[in-house]
Amino acid sequence: MEKLIKIFDTTLRDGEQSPGCSMNLKEKLELAKQLERLGADIIEAGFPIASPEDFQAVSEIAKQIKNAQIAALCRASRNDIDCAYNALKKAVNPRLHIFIATSKIHMEHKLKMTENDVLERIKDSVSYAKTLIDDIQFCAEDASRSDREFLLKAFKTAVDAGASTLNITDTVGYASPSEIFDLVKYIRKNIPENITLAIHCHNDLGCAVANALFAVKAGAGQVECTVNGIGERAGNTSLEGVVMALYTRSDMFNVRTNIVTKQIYRTSKMLSTITGIPIARNKPIVGENAFAHESGIHQHGVMNNRSTYEIISPESVGIYQNRMVLGKHSGRHALEERLYEMGYRISSDNLDRVFDKFKLIAEKKKYITDKDIEVLVGPYASQIKETYRLKTFVVNSGSVISATAVVKLIRDDGTEKEHVARGDGPIDAAFKAIDRVVKQGFSLENYSIQSVTEGEDALGEVIVKLKCSDDSIITGRGLSTDIIEASIKAYLNAVNKAIAQQSV
Ligand code: KIV
Ligand code: ZN
Repeated sequence: MEKLIKIFDTTLRDGEQSPGCSMNLKEKLELAKQLERLGADIIEAGFPIASPEDFQAVSEIAKQIKNAQIAALCRASRNDIDCAYNALKKAVNPRLHIFIATSKIHMEHKLKMTENDVLERIKDSVSYAKTLIDDIQFCAEDASRSDREFLLKAFKTAVDAGASTLNITDTVGYASPSEIFDLVKYIRKNIPENITLAIHCHNDLGCAVANALFAVKAGAGQVECTVNGIGERAGNTSLEGVVMALYTRSDMFNVRTNIVTKQIYRTSKMLSTITGIPIARNKPIVGENAFAHESGIHQHGVMNNRSTYEIISPESVGIYQNRMVLGKHSGRHALEERLYEMGYRISSDNLDRVFDKFKLIAEKKKYITDKDIEVLVGPYASQIKETYRLKTFVVNSGSVISATAVVKLIRDDGTEKEHVARGDGPIDAAFKAIDRVVKQGFSLENYSIQSVTEGEDALGEVIVKLKCSDDSIITGRGLSTDIIEASIKAYLNAVNKAIAQQSV
């Protein structure tokens, strides 16, 4: 019988704490719901002591997600544990994830603790946590660089104090697959069978997925990972990579996971939309080129039989090749059905909004493909109040005049306001005109544009990142067949998010 490997998703904790990946409460909740649909066994929702926002996010996720276990991270201290416990109060099936470093480097230079101090701390914190919550995961930070005998002692102390899962980390992404294999084998041999071993890897040397796979081979029963592999520095083990490797090479691993693979692409896309971090074209499983065949020989082979050059079917991860599915005569019901087939579950209100957008785009594009639908539905993953909407814009620009833009916005109270501005190019001018209307003092940190589909009537997707006065970064996204309109919409989307955040 195939052994079940638990998938512990830490996108909302280890992923979210990496630069450019921060999410607001609404976005975290949307992603948590999608992770539940994806079939993650455990969702690490955050590090509650880190900030009031983290605490709130863990509490809300614990309250709303019922089909996955919710975990919260805490250091090995009673104060941290109390905080995480309080954040998890509403969870149906909570887990405390307690960590302390066990490598000499960390103990000496970071913790300034001896081995005995660390063992004492493990005993005290795990046994205290066990009085609050039954499911305790103990994590040895920097385990791969720890002395093996001491690491084992630390793990045995945690088990004696009540931990039922032990997390073996490669915190700095230093280990090689064979080292991880040996380490997991060693711990597995010396720890009772009923204790689950987890593996948590970082990708500094590009080995995070390989290391997780070798850990599974050596007896790990839980893999920690993030969607798109986001995370500290070079990231974590990517969920899609490890799950699809286990699935595709079940002949080698003889294990299964609870992941609904058809939800993988959708989850990856949702995260990219929320964070504004694009997915590299050549990224395994979810990248634009992952299932593209360019060379004639490959195309010929695939036409004869897909298995010549395809080891995974795109449909198995929820990618439906650019099919021409709908046109301007398609109704709301056809759109709803297509969305359902593609794995989207959206409320009736949001469906109305998507349908309105769909109709507008269908006026400009002959066929609406699955890719178009994905980007249309994207913004409604995290619906926000639209304080400002675009009414009209006029832009003048050329090589012998400086660019000017006139932008008219409608406020949610119905009032209209228009401003004109000059800028270094049409987009800069349009953004400055918006700034004059909204008077909020944002600064533009980043701007990117990409074409979503091919052809003359391709949709352009613009992502902007705005810095607010409190230094927080807000991501906005806009979509249109006209790139200036897409830019204005992206800017307004970020402005509206920032205003919504200020009023929380
Ligand atoms: O990389 C790491 O060691 C971690 C632990 C705190 C789980 O993220
Ligand atoms: Zn980590």
